[in-house]
Amino acid sequence: MIFEILTTFPGIIEAVAGESIIRRARDKGLVEVEAVNLRDFTSDKHKTTDDSPFGGGPGMVMKLEPVFDAVDTLISRRPGKVRVALMTPQGERFDQAKAEQLARENHIIMICGRYEGVDERIRRHLVTDEMSIGDYVLTGGELAAMVVVDAVARLVPGVLGDESSAESESFSSGLLEYPQYTRPAQYREYSVPEVLVSGNHKEIEKWRREHSLRRTLERRPDLLNSAPLTEEDRRTLVRIRKEE
Ligand code: ADE
Repeated sequence: MIFEILTTFPGIIEAVAGESIIRRARDKGLVEVEAVNLRDFTSDKHKTTDDSPFGGGPGMVMKLEPVFDAVDTLISRRPGKVRVALMTPQGERFDQAKAEQLARENHIIMICGRYEGVDERIRRHLVTDEMSIGDYVLTGGELAAMVVVDAVARLVPGVLGDESSAESESFSSGLLEYPQYTRPAQYREYSVPEVLVSGNHKEIEKWRREHSLRRTLERRPDLLNSAPLTEEDRRTLVRIRKEE
């Protein structure tokens, strides 16, 4: 899985991708994360990547030539299927389903917008996906790109040590995760639910499913509309709702 990230701030990309699980995945050769400096694709002596907007108005616009030239170069270096993503608050909202879709790709080029925006021709003629990580405005697309890289890379087989952990968590099942506890079983007056230390695996599974449902109902009831629920789950939800 190759991520190439076009940016004028390669240090932000390296700072994030040089730590923890993503760093280990890179060392193992499972994912490649390369920051590509847009200034290397400029032709003027000031290495300009932005300019004032046609028609006037405040702010600067990201110029198209360095972006087109950089993407052309990256594609010719590694021919084959590629997605070209633009990180922008105007994009489609990034979520777990999109992460799963991108995890099936081999090569993703990400363009980090800066300034007030990017020349519209980049969007219209170069980009295959516009992605937003949420309804807020960052100073640039770098952190957003790294959110996407992190969420996608952890789905690549072998990146997480324990293969099962990518699956059992929040969102993959369509529900929020059940509460977790570890030793000690008693701390101050706070104890662990009895069933979890009982060793009864069937009861533990039941408790976990119920508490996933409870948590989802309390915090993200919208998820229940699309989560795959069994008849038993539906009965559990009816019972929980009656408690109120
Ligand atoms: N660039 C600035 N804000 C952003 C956001 N919320 N998502 C993606 N890219 C961005």
